[in-house]
Amino acid sequence: MEASPFLLACRRKPVPHTPVWYMRQAGRSLPEYLKLREGVPMMEACARPDMIVEITMQPVRRYGVDAAIFFSDIVVPLKAIGVDLDIKPGVGPVIADPVRDRAGLGVLRPLTPDDVPYVTEAARALTGELGATPLIGFAGAPFTLASYLIEGGPSKNQDRTKAMMYGDPELWDALMERLTDITIAYLEVQIAAGASAVQLFDSWVGAVAPQDYRASVLPHTRRIFEAIAPLGVPRIHFGVGTGELLGLMGEAGADVVGVDWRVPLDEAVRRVEPGKALQGNLDPAVLFAPWEVVERRARDVLDRGRTAEGHVFNLGHGVLPSTDPDVLARLTDLVHEASARG
Ligand code: CP3
Repeated sequence: MEASPFLLACRRKPVPHTPVWYMRQAGRSLPEYLKLREGVPMMEACARPDMIVEITMQPVRRYGVDAAIFFSDIVVPLKAIGVDLDIKPGVGPVIADPVRDRAGLGVLRPLTPDDVPYVTEAARALTGELGATPLIGFAGAPFTLASYLIEGGPSKNQDRTKAMMYGDPELWDALMERLTDITIAYLEVQIAAGASAVQLFDSWVGAVAPQDYRASVLPHTRRIFEAIAPLGVPRIHFGVGTGELLGLMGEAGADVVGVDWRVPLDEAVRRVEPGKALQGNLDPAVLFAPWEVVERRARDVLDRGRTAEGHVFNLGHGVLPSTDPDVLARLTDLVHEASARG
């Protein structure tokens, strides 16, 4: 397992080829996924070990990617502690009673492994089934979880979230503290059950300016990475629209910084402190272009990725729902072949 190209690249060690996996590879465009999910609501699928195992395995079988990502959602730990929420198809997480004052914090009690037995069961089963392919566990970062809780659902600009951050820093920090504790506990459960790496998704933190990130987000995120450091698995940190934050995201303590498609990887190398690997960053929309374009752009990502101390090939954000699975299969082969070291 430790010889897996994915874990080697995360640790900035020499690799036989550049490893590749795709954010949102599990459960998007695959026909075998859509068939399995027929009539099963998302939150129910996330609580059934048989479904988690099967959906996590599907892209590994089909694409031959170098890592699996646990099938779940960032709001699963919140649901598990009793937050009234649902995932609406095509919309995303919707929260029944948004958290907007101190009383709203009451629902955010600490998470224990007993709250998510299906996660432990599925991750254990998966590590057996995956053999030498690493399993990536994940969690939503406190800012992104806070944004769903405060806004009540998806939001374009995170206005209410930032209003609390600017206007009531005490409430903000109390909310972030609780989410940080929940996130640490949730990542620990996945690592204890066999996850070989973890990714912290701070998808919407790109809405924040660097000085606010440093003051109001970074201390919490750093606490997460410090808490799980002794567990010894590579820690990946990703957000969208975070070009101005890449350096600070590295400072927060991850081993691997995820880069969206807006910043070329050789430029990201300059923005992130030394001693970090990078992950990314082909624009997921490129996969809708003719193959020649996909190939040229993928090779460009690989070339720029060579300037990093370690590179995990990925998209700059998740696989888009109408992506042709055959293009992802072909891209996986291309990355492996084009990066093979004799
Ligand atoms: O990456 C994977 O393949 C594993 C599974 C996974 C899901 N969500 C499954 C899912 C992961 C890693 C996530 C993370 C997630 N969820 C993030 C961070 C990653 C990112 O894209 O930035 C965020 C912001 C969410 C919140 C969320 N959940 C949204 C915005 C949506 C709706 C839009 C969409 O993608 O359809 C979901 C629902 C969701 N999460 C689905 C799946 C398979 C669709 C479920 C359905 O519609 O029935």
